[in-house]
Amino acid sequence: MQYYIVKGGNKLEGEVSSSGSKNASLPILAASILNKGKTYLKNVPKIHDTEIMYQIMELLGIKISKEDEYVVIDATNINNYEIPDNLMRQMRSSVILAGAIIGRCKKAKFSYPGGCDIGVRPIDLHLNAFEKMGIKIEEENGKISCSTEKVLGNTITLDFPSVGATENIILAATLSEGITYIKNAAMEPEIVDLQNFINKMGGNIVGAGTKEIKIIGTNSLNSVEYEIMPDRIEIGTLLCAATITKGNITIKNIRIEHLIPVIYKLEEMGCKIDLKENEIKLQAKDKLNACNIKTMPYPGFPTDMQPIMGAVLGVSKGTSLIVENIFENRYKYLAELKRMGAKTTVEGKTAIIKGIRRYTPAKVEATDLRGGAALILAALNAGGTTEITNIKYILRGYEKIDKKLELLGANINIREGE
Ligand code: UD1
Repeated sequence: MQYYIVKGGNKLEGEVSSSGSKNASLPILAASILNKGKTYLKNVPKIHDTEIMYQIMELLGIKISKEDEYVVIDATNINNYEIPDNLMRQMRSSVILAGAIIGRCKKAKFSYPGGCDIGVRPIDLHLNAFEKMGIKIEEENGKISCSTEKVLGNTITLDFPSVGATENIILAATLSEGITYIKNAAMEPEIVDLQNFINKMGGNIVGAGTKEIKIIGTNSLNSVEYEIMPDRIEIGTLLCAATITKGNITIKNIRIEHLIPVIYKLEEMGCKIDLKENEIKLQAKDKLNACNIKTMPYPGFPTDMQPIMGAVLGVSKGTSLIVENIFENRYKYLAELKRMGAKTTVEGKTAIIKGIRRYTPAKVEATDLRGGAALILAALNAGGTTEITNIKYILRGYEKIDKKLELLGANINIREGE
């Protein structure tokens, strides 16, 4: 089992580049299944979740190789349409393969997905949408079988703007007959990246990034190369890491418009931010101000940044309130931060955080991906050595986060142990 040893106290200073977005790469990898040929993807992060995705795709008969900076997906032949239970459980995003496999094979078999323990995370919106598109769904012994002669366009109104359901509908509809409208669609930038990729392959989608998306079904797609967008959550994490260490950093390869809600909060906390077209500079101030956060679907404050910002608020002057509106179980990390001295209480959706001067080192355990990142930040702030175990969660979604932080002056090492 790997763990991190972090010696806190160093100010982060210097320059790093962002990695490609995890949450854009996964649906785009799924979309590459729709093309009976090769796809060349640049900027796919080397993380555990993309590795799981490759493993599942290989089991379907797809060939994955690496050529220079490209991941090459050869989906000329597919000889399987079933996602094995053990891989499905390892990653919730495996569910978006369903839409792509149905789109390509007109049938798919999978079980309920696993993933971070941050809430119940049902897939009813995905399955209801599939049914509206003429796909027959049968459940037996925990397996979900989907089949259809043709995927048919329809109007689907989502009860909640689910990111995964929006992506799954797009994936199922790309090669369908007719036109699909998604109303109350999720507006996240990763969905725009998925639309841009599919359209580059010859698909016909408009409206991603707004509440209504229109997908006109096409017959076939063609081979393209495509560069995945920067990871806005990784960038937000690095900005918060600089903030919590009173540092001064520059991050290259960013899209300003994706970072607005996070920038707004960091400025409210007293950070000085300079923006250039493809670059962000942050200078933290010595005493950070408390502030309030409410997570919302995009363009609101991202739920994935909530634990990370929560770690910073733990050492900001005054009392901060967080309201988590997306996932019902996303405060587990606070129990670990308490071991490091944090003063917090949780009442329903709300966390009340009374800022302390500085975290104290402790032995803590990552509870999920972003909660794990929150612990790294607290450890960077603490005066002494913190051990973070269960880092498999962190490795799922951050590409070489220890190396990037080291480059900025942090003292963080990955160790192997029992
Ligand atoms: C995606 C992101 C995740 C992010 C989340 C919200 C990926 C790989 N993951 O997850 O990092 O935190 O968006 O921005 O892109 N829901 C239902 N029924 C459904 C589907 C969702 O009730 O069928 C609920 C969920 O339980 C949750 C809310 O809708 O409370 C949002 O979930 P959703 O937007 O679907 O998140 P994911 O796509 O799983």
